[in-house]
Amino acid sequence: MHTPSSRREFIALTAAAALAGSARAQSKPAATAAAAPSGPFALDPLPYAANALEPHIDAKTMEIHHGKHHQAYINNLNTAVKASAGLEKKSLEELISGISFLPESAQMPVRNNGGGHWNHTFFWESMAAPGGVGVGGTPEDAALSAGITKAFGDFDKFKAKFGEAATKRFGSGWAWLIAKEDGSLAVVSTPNQDNPLMQGIVPNTDRGTPLLGLDVWEHAYYLNYQNRRPEYIAAWWNVVNWPAVAARLKAAGKKGK
Ligand SMILES: [Fe+2]
Repeated sequence: MHTPSSRREFIALTAAAALAGSARAQSKPAATAAAAPSGPFALDPLPYAANALEPHIDAKTMEIHHGKHHQAYINNLNTAVKASAGLEKKSLEELISGISFLPESAQMPVRNNGGGHWNHTFFWESMAAPGGVGVGGTPEDAALSAGITKAFGDFDKFKAKFGEAATKRFGSGWAWLIAKEDGSLAVVSTPNQDNPLMQGIVPNTDRGTPLLGLDVWEHAYYLNYQNRRPEYIAAWWNVVNWPAVAARLKAAGKKGK
């Protein structure tokens, strides 16, 4: 857990927390970084107030995570695509799914920052205020429930497998539920900001369409949970937006036909 990158991340987080502490934004994202390169990518607002996921994920964590960390990935991605001819016109999905085909100098910045932008956008949309329709608990969608039962035995076994992948991811990274090309579901984990769309980066066995993703970087939970990643994971299930997951499965099925 004390790799140089996570240490740097913690230092950055501490500095960001001090900055955010002086800002009086309760439900607005923290102010975005100054002198950010303009476009082509921009930070969308969170789909809910920063305090909407409380008590499971606190407002300050959301403000820093979204307004500072996510913004930084976007700024760095914009810098990277501006430095290579032709990249500015590509969509985010084109960039991250075809990293191996990009100019060599763009590959690592796009992998880290394009991955960071895609993963975080996906993460915000994977959650919703606890107590809302279809939030937390078990999925009601028949196709999603059937896919989970078929792949893992039952919902609790899926939850255990996903939780294990998230807990055991060494250092920083993500746990994912994916739909594979044959339509079957699987749990995988990726390091840093890699994701299951990244051809040539992620092993073929771990590739597929992401349906659900959990950020287990320390910046996602440290303010509230410190080193207690398993507690963060257990609490996170209360804010999972199952209708969003079901919609992704439906879209993946259509794409495969
Ligand atoms: Fe994150």
